[in-house]
Amino acid sequence: MFETVGDYPVDPIMIGTELFAQDLRADKLNLTVGIYQDENGETPVLNAVKQAETRLIEVQKTKSYTALTGDADYCTGLGQAIFGANTFDECQFVAAQTAGGAVALRVMADLFAQMPTKPTVWLQTPTYGNYHAILTAAGAIFQSVPYYDQIKREIVFDEMLAGLKSANPGDFFLMQGVCHNPTGADMTREQFEALLDQLEAQGIIPWIDLAYLGFSQSFDADCEMARQIAKRFPECVICTTLSKSFGIYRDRAGALFVKTRSADRDRIHRALSAIIRSGSSHAPDHGPSVVQLILQDPMLKALWLQELDQMRRRVIEVRQEIVKIEQRDFQRNSLAYMGRQSGMFSLLPLTMAQEAALTRNHGIHVVKGGRVNVARLGDADIPKLISAFHIVGAEV
Ligand SMILES: Cc1ncc(COP(=O)(O)O)c(C=O)c1O
Repeated sequence: MFETVGDYPVDPIMIGTELFAQDLRADKLNLTVGIYQDENGETPVLNAVKQAETRLIEVQKTKSYTALTGDADYCTGLGQAIFGANTFDECQFVAAQTAGGAVALRVMADLFAQMPTKPTVWLQTPTYGNYHAILTAAGAIFQSVPYYDQIKREIVFDEMLAGLKSANPGDFFLMQGVCHNPTGADMTREQFEALLDQLEAQGIIPWIDLAYLGFSQSFDADCEMARQIAKRFPECVICTTLSKSFGIYRDRAGALFVKTRSADRDRIHRALSAIIRSGSSHAPDHGPSVVQLILQDPMLKALWLQELDQMRRRVIEVRQEIVKIEQRDFQRNSLAYMGRQSGMFSLLPLTMAQEAALTRNHGIHVVKGGRVNVARLGDADIPKLISAFHIVGAEV
């Protein structure tokens, strides 16, 4: 029977890890990873998380199931942190605790696929590759509009707005919060406002995915896009993962916030509960409880924000180093765009053949399509990457 199962595509990020393991060169460099790494190439547990975990063991009284939509206090605490207490109260979201952001995205994708008239979800190109897999697995309908030109190294904002002209009222536009994955290129404030104007004018519903809160300017400032959307639109969707902001990737903390008109609220709550029950089921508790403890305790919160600041500063410093070293030691500016981008990821402006040469000839592994994790770069790696980038750019 199993011989009838077709060949499933391997996720490009997972395949990158496999290919890296197979590379026997001692000086190979893995820029495919999707997580924060410090200058030693490690992803340590934050001190705030360690302290909250210790406390959790002491105070936790039960490990019985939570509601299908998780712990309402967790959703409220997180919602207040993201939207601010007033906006959170006003919006009266239908909220669910989910196993990371991926499950929040999947629950929405399932909902759209099950609606009597399936809305089209509009995606940016390029965007987080797993959106395609999640929407496809759910059976949701999606289309794409251009977002970023990898060779020109810039957002193609007008093309994105022009593409969205084909959307219908009731369609959803899935965008990302700060530190766009994989491009690192975020819209300016003016662009974001112009986008919201167009969404509103066309009756397109915003769906924003927040994965890197705290990695651009600060946790608070990085929540601004979600706040604007929630304040302005009667219907909107916000998904978030706390994997990166708290460094708790494997503990699976995330959430889904759906703003509906009041008449729809209970029905949407039942719909989300039913979808969760038949799929991911109850969310894990450990990671979310740690987050809840940190957000509730001023001392732990201050420590976490300090550690988040450190991660952000390191990413910014690496970006500035790339620009500085390319100018100073190579007298070139071809990577200057990286200094203007934010978060862990950027795309190298390489063709497929040049990208293959980067790995084959220089042992530098990137995600298919040219995504590099700048947080992985130590001091010695930066000139190595720049030099290899120049060589492959010139020779292929
Ligand atoms: C933009 C974006 N959304 C969602 C996710 C999913 O996060 P998680 O694996 O924590 O669910 C990621 C992870 O890389 C991401 O980059």
